[in-house]
Amino acid sequence: MDLYLDSADIAALGPLLATGLFRGVTTNPLILQRANVRLDEVPTLVEWLLERTDGDVFVQTTAQDADDIKREGSRLRAMSDRLVVKVPATRDGLTATRRLVDAGVPTLVTAVYGPRQAVLAAAAGAQWIAPYLGRMTEAGRDGHEQVARMVQVLRGSGTRTLVASIRSPEDVVGLAAAGADAVTLGADVAQALFDEPLTEAAVAQFDAAAAALR
Ligand code: E4P
Repeated sequence: MDLYLDSADIAALGPLLATGLFRGVTTNPLILQRANVRLDEVPTLVEWLLERTDGDVFVQTTAQDADDIKREGSRLRAMSDRLVVKVPATRDGLTATRRLVDAGVPTLVTAVYGPRQAVLAAAAGAQWIAPYLGRMTEAGRDGHEQVARMVQVLRGSGTRTLVASIRSPEDVVGLAAAGADAVTLGADVAQALFDEPLTEAAVAQFDAAAAALR
């Protein structure tokens, strides 16, 4: 399963991208706001990200109706052939997704809360869907079960599952076991994946043994 980072905070992203373990970066307007990145600063952010990853950078449209979303998506895509356009799973968003896909623009349908939206995204030809695992669970749905259904529904289609709104490393493991293609992680969850006190204790023992052998 591929790992992406869900952040626009360059101080947090830099060290995580430097590990080489993350395939790319996803953003949305909320993530930009949390990192104090204005919309007119997005091209600078995208340039910074593209220099630090070989993979894709995902930027979300902010327009409301299908024509405007299509226009905005095409403009975003003009920044790089490694930019994937994120579009919310509204009726207008899905309409625009179909038009972007027909124009050769790779898309991710985001804010997906159930398998029927996965079916619609696949019909629109989206390259990806982003189910919101944590938010589904917090809304009283069984997020993991819903994602498992989406993986099942999308099998054989060209649409892959990139799960967002991840709350813990245990979520990541559960999603990998369920066959999700990718997850996108906030910097805190990404960092938590590396944290294992027992490994650190073992390494401290190795260090002490190595020091005694010098
Ligand atoms: C999607 O790209 C994000 O993960 C989205 O903001 C949802 O995450 P949150 O539930 O942590 O806000």
